[in-house]
Amino acid sequence: MNKRITVIKGDGIGPEIIDEAIKVLDAAADKYHHHFTYNYIDAGGCAIDKFGTSLPDASLAACLDCDSVLLGAVGGPKWDQVDPAIRPEKALLKIRKEMGLFSNLRPAKVFDVLAAASPLKPEIVAQGIDLLIVRELIGGVYFGERETKEINNELKATDIMSYSEHEIERVGRVAFETARKRRHHVTSVDKANVLDTSRLWRKVMHRLAEEYPDVTYTDMLVDNTAMQLVKNPSQFDVVVTENMFGDILSDEASMITGSIGLIPSSSLGVGSRGMYEPIHGSAPDIAGMNIANPIGTILSAAMMLKYSFEMEAESQAIEDAVNAVLNEGYRTADIYTEGKIKLTCSAMGDKIVSKL
Ligand code: NAD
Ligand code: IPM
Ligand code: MN
Repeated sequence: MNKRITVIKGDGIGPEIIDEAIKVLDAAADKYHHHFTYNYIDAGGCAIDKFGTSLPDASLAACLDCDSVLLGAVGGPKWDQVDPAIRPEKALLKIRKEMGLFSNLRPAKVFDVLAAASPLKPEIVAQGIDLLIVRELIGGVYFGERETKEINNELKATDIMSYSEHEIERVGRVAFETARKRRHHVTSVDKANVLDTSRLWRKVMHRLAEEYPDVTYTDMLVDNTAMQLVKNPSQFDVVVTENMFGDILSDEASMITGSIGLIPSSSLGVGSRGMYEPIHGSAPDIAGMNIANPIGTILSAAMMLKYSFEMEAESQAIEDAVNAVLNEGYRTADIYTEGKIKLTCSAMGDKIVSKL
């Protein structure tokens, strides 16, 4: 099959991790006789430097005219003081919104061989950690009206969080459908003891739960969820939540697997075209050092093959290659434990390619 992939390397470690994912995609294409063409576009801080805007029109157009988008990461301290309207993160949010990518899947699973890299006690890890966060991606406080104004010589800032029933229902449905392919349990996370948006969220989720009697269902408040994720993560299968709660909880969930560098994500809307990116950021503290973990990005590419291109075997082959490399004891610095073999970012990419 021929597929056209729009690629955004972005900032910080973005270019380093994307290079490794492209190597792996090329190896998979070779093995299974596909042809992937890559359209490299600028977005994020690097686009501000070149064009004065984080998302040039041509870059957005390239995201809307392709079979899927692969993204490294955007942002960094260099652009923290630019006008909020054009900051790097704004590009990412605009692409998500314009592509209509309302459901963001972020799996957090502990690889057996990486149990020692988890900061949790071995007896907690041994119970099994395999959860999937379904994060609403184009609503809530991220996209509500916001302003900063001066009142009585004092600045006052406002960010509005809003959700409508249909926005909640469509992502809820993704969660229930996905649970049917997993362990048939959904935990819906909200703050219904305080927020109206959460009370509406809960109402819609309960309606959906009745439609899916084969899926067991639990409501959980977000603060308790943050605690339960470290106390007893094996209780979770699919966790569905609104945009900002999902952002925060997915970084927490990533760390119990050993490192944020391991976690991929898919973002999808109505059709098959999606965006795929690791959940971490541009990691300015390690950028340019060739020590970042490329596995989250490589597994994001694997998710693209499975969810957007219907290439199940190809996707599985990449996952198997990652597993094989970890099983043989190869580690990047973030997941390194004593007695293992430490690899650079590019050497990890090469090793994974060698298993394909
Ligand atoms: P971050 O995720 O970039 O980094 C947090 C910590 O995790 C750092 O210590 C970093 O070195 C480490 N880390 C992250 N990815 C890693 C990897 N692949 N391998 C090894 N270690 C890794 O979060 P931050 O520092 O809060 O954010 C930095 C910038 O990235 C900010 O500008 C933020 O807005 C942006 N950001 C972008 C995205 C994205 O493009 N999708 C996501 C999150 C943050
Ligand atoms: C993520 C990031 C983004 C988010 C930022 C960079 C806008 O943290 O993808 O998790 O908050 O969604
Ligand atoms: Mn985040």
